[in-house]
Amino acid sequence: MCGIVGYVGPRPAQDLLLGGLARLEYRGYDSAGLVIGENGVLRSVRRVGKIADLMEAVAREPESFPGSYGVGHTRWATHGPPTVPNAHPHFDCAQEIAVVHNGIIENWVELKTWLEERGHGFSSDTDTEVAAHLIEELGPVSLAEAVAEVLRRCEGALAMAVVRRSDPGLVVGGRKGSPLVIGRGSGENFLASDIPAFMAHTRRMMIVPEERVVEVRSDSVRVTDLFGEESEPEEREVEWDVEAAEKGGYPTFMLKEIHEQPQAVAATLLGRIGAGGEPLLEETGLTGPVAKGIDKVFVVACGTSYHAGMMAKYALERWAKVPVEVDLSSEFRYRDPVLDERSLVIGISQSGETADTLGAVRFALDQGARVAAVTNVVGSSLAREAHMVFQTRAGPEIGVAASKTFITQMALLQLMGLHMAIERGVMTPAEAAGPVKALRSLPDRLEEVLGLSDRMLELAEGWRDVRDFFFLGRSVDYPAALEGALKLKELSYVRAEGYAAGEMKHGPIALIEPGVVVFGVATDRRLRQKMFSNLSEMKARGGTVVTLVGSEDRTEAAIPSDLVIPLPEDADLIGAVLAVVPLQLFSYHLATIKGLDVDQPRNLAKTVTVE
Ligand code: AGP
Repeated sequence: MCGIVGYVGPRPAQDLLLGGLARLEYRGYDSAGLVIGENGVLRSVRRVGKIADLMEAVAREPESFPGSYGVGHTRWATHGPPTVPNAHPHFDCAQEIAVVHNGIIENWVELKTWLEERGHGFSSDTDTEVAAHLIEELGPVSLAEAVAEVLRRCEGALAMAVVRRSDPGLVVGGRKGSPLVIGRGSGENFLASDIPAFMAHTRRMMIVPEERVVEVRSDSVRVTDLFGEESEPEEREVEWDVEAAEKGGYPTFMLKEIHEQPQAVAATLLGRIGAGGEPLLEETGLTGPVAKGIDKVFVVACGTSYHAGMMAKYALERWAKVPVEVDLSSEFRYRDPVLDERSLVIGISQSGETADTLGAVRFALDQGARVAAVTNVVGSSLAREAHMVFQTRAGPEIGVAASKTFITQMALLQLMGLHMAIERGVMTPAEAAGPVKALRSLPDRLEEVLGLSDRMLELAEGWRDVRDFFFLGRSVDYPAALEGALKLKELSYVRAEGYAAGEMKHGPIALIEPGVVVFGVATDRRLRQKMFSNLSEMKARGGTVVTLVGSEDRTEAAIPSDLVIPLPEDADLIGAVLAVVPLQLFSYHLATIKGLDVDQPRNLAKTVTVE
């Protein structure tokens, strides 16, 4: 997820672009840049780091940027680490065309090869740069026609904004799968990924419809489809205040990010499942020989990422037939694990900067193990030090409690398990088709379970004074239960224990009495009878039992339960992933009812950089 801003008008574009980028910093902030046009000259500045670094760099320029039109970009790296050459805007060979882009151009490698064969030279590792050279290759056509052709030729999700030296006073935008909005001012106009970029200047906005090109001038906005047919999008008045707009209209980043989970999974899987349903993860370096050379997997992670690792164990063992051990990063290196070059250590960390996990991974590297990183931040320490990087594409996660990064970790780890299985020859692509299909449906399934939000709010209102919660599960539902308990602890400050359901009778059942609420995660159909028996034992001792279960088992689940939360029926380990969402929502609502700061809970940091 990146941020795009464009401006055309009488005022200095530099100030409006920088101000707009600052408002979009929640969309990405590992590097930024802008390009401004004036009297047929394009000038640009790009920097690694936050918008403040770019502002400082612009201020230090020997002469100011008098230009009155231009585009800017704040990046959340997907292809290529955060470096100045990879920062947007990207240019063509002649430095006549500048492009900023949000999204992923899936077929960028083949386009790049095609362009290189025609003599184009590239200066970045990004997918975006192909768009600038493609426009150059198209030659003397209008910029709008060129952008339309880029949208036709590029596969994937993209929103872009382009300026060309020979088109003073014009910014051309285009979108296919990523958002783009227009801000209508008086004698000036804006283009952006999201409305906070220009809300300080105008509340008149238009949403650029899917697969459209927009020509923005100071006194006009023209929208056409990819074949030049003009259309006039509806103009709206923005009601939100700026803060609400940054949260997409949600009251908190946490709730916004819970609801972003479907699109975050879709972005993470984009371009990673072939037309035939085969996983496409070769670019990570996990090739057939590497996969066959692994005889044991160790997963190291903390907190929510640790729960993702526990859930991934089921996928990797079931599909790839490789033994997996999952360790808390802070424990791993002190138990003298036996590692060698045939060990694969997977470090899972959304930030890629967690000290405990970096310590565990560095220990593994010292022992000669092969290390893979599953992370949300391309340029993070973990990504740089690992041999292989599996990058989730959840976009920046502002809420301290992890939500969308967890779900995207799950999706990517399951895809990795299927990829390993096929590369190790223990699963055919045909056998993998079922689980891959289930993964492909995950965004839709997530949308369905997000519909449980009101139901979970009712439960939270009814249990606002309960002080004792258990979250139980078996098999892959057990880590899902652990994650549910962690969410309640960190968001609502309520004591909650995640436990293996089968283990309760070995002691903790002594804690069950009237007033204790027990959430039972029961999506694994092989174990539902055992799970229902365990929950009946809780109910028999006065516990209030809420069972999360696949819809087919809803009637059976009614037996041990006071309440049944029906989940979409899903096989292949997807059910347990889905069960986490209503648990996220329950904890979120309970914390909100209590008036707590759900985006920044007390005592917590988004990234724990101390051991
Ligand atoms: C999750 O909600 C917590 N904020 C915390 O447990 C977190 O998962 C843990 O600190 C690991 O962070 P990482 O994924 O960035 O390594």
